[in-house]
Amino acid sequence: MTETVKIIYEGKTHEFPVVEGTEGEKAIDILQLRQKTGLVTLDPGYANTGSCTSDITFMDGEKGILRYRGIPVEQLAEHSSFIETSYLLINGVLPTREQLNDISDLFNDQSLVHEDMQKFYHNFPRGSHPMGILSSMVNALRSFYPELQTIEEEINITVTRLLSKVRTMAAMSYKISRGHKVVYPRSDLSYCANFLNMMFDTPVKSYYIDEDLVDALNVFWILHADHEQNCSTSAVRLVGSGRVNLYAAISAGIAALWGPLHGGANQAVIEMLSDIQKDGGNIQRAIDRARDKKDTFRLMGFGHRVYKTYDPRAKIMKEMCYKILEKLNIDDPLLDIAKELEEAALTDDYFVDHNLYPNVDFYSGIVLRAMKIPTNMFTVMFAIGRLPGWIAQWKESIDDPKWRLGRPRQIYIGPEKRDYIPMDER
Ligand code: CMC
Repeated sequence: MTETVKIIYEGKTHEFPVVEGTEGEKAIDILQLRQKTGLVTLDPGYANTGSCTSDITFMDGEKGILRYRGIPVEQLAEHSSFIETSYLLINGVLPTREQLNDISDLFNDQSLVHEDMQKFYHNFPRGSHPMGILSSMVNALRSFYPELQTIEEEINITVTRLLSKVRTMAAMSYKISRGHKVVYPRSDLSYCANFLNMMFDTPVKSYYIDEDLVDALNVFWILHADHEQNCSTSAVRLVGSGRVNLYAAISAGIAALWGPLHGGANQAVIEMLSDIQKDGGNIQRAIDRARDKKDTFRLMGFGHRVYKTYDPRAKIMKEMCYKILEKLNIDDPLLDIAKELEEAALTDDYFVDHNLYPNVDFYSGIVLRAMKIPTNMFTVMFAIGRLPGWIAQWKESIDDPKWRLGRPRQIYIGPEKRDYIPMDER
């Protein structure tokens, strides 16, 4: 028998079905709520609202679990590649060897960017933030590649085109921002190695591709590949629900990710650690400021809407951070500050009481610094990683026969009806 929830309102009892997910998560299905009771729900920040059912990613914030299509992220980080994980997220299954080879060929074929697009890059004012540029350029892809159709094969090509080109576009924006010659993708390099080469190879100095850095980038992108209905993914689904093209929906996701409370936190963490360093390494002052309700300062890289324990991605990222710095013999003073800050916060009663643990962004900036990625490109790195997740979620939503235009309600608290006052009488 289906479990139900009863709502008693104005003396009448209304029953609503309870929906249960495969991992035992439960929700009240309120599809009929307004029709039956005249009420809507009010949930700012959507902390209690499930916006969809999905079979892509499972998170348990209390237990610190993250799985893509059922597979623990720890296993994917250890054994998979970013391309294979992207395939898994988008298609629901791991690819066969043949499928992976085909997809790699497709990635190569699609990796170039229309030469005319470079003109746009040159015309952004110097110092423009790469996230703003990326969001605009992804939207512009629709004009350069208008072929998106609804038949399966074309969508797969569009998806591959986007995944492949975004990496080229990100590296291109870095090169152009430095006034350097653009480096083109190479068919003999893997996805991650290609990106690093496009970022750092120059006509006067060939880039040495360090396999440890390639592996680290691979893990970095796998850890960011999806995170169910977060702010940017919800933006992609909401914008996409108007049946806009994929490029426009992803462009909205990139814009949403930019914010410092979301993907922009990886840049904000490094800025915060640098500020602490400039402040003579005063960890306690940072902790005190974060606790102070009159101060808007927060410990960046700490806390999460869903995780109320250590973020499983942060655990892997921290380990990788130590490993990569040791292997490359890098002594980054910001790592020492991060370590001290983490230790202090994890034993501080405010952070303990509020269940505030390091999230994925806390150590990721230090890993990106080891790769020599400039700080203002950190969130772009997150965006490239999140792309397969956004695509999988967009695809799932447009394939769902029950999917409707996203259109929340509100409770109006403004003035009651009043008359227009002519200018001379105001
Ligand atoms: N430093 C200090 N206090 C904090 C922090 C923090 N980083 N995060 C939350 N709190 C406090 C907050 O002040 C509030 O306290 P009280 O209940 O006493 O008023 C309580 O914890 C709950 O905070 P909230 O803002 O209602 O929680 P939320 O679920 O809306 O916010 C968050 C989640 C990630 C926006 C928040 O923890 C935050 O601002 N963290 C810093 C930014 C950050 O690292 N963002 C990256 C998130 S992980 C990457 C991603 O997936 O986007």
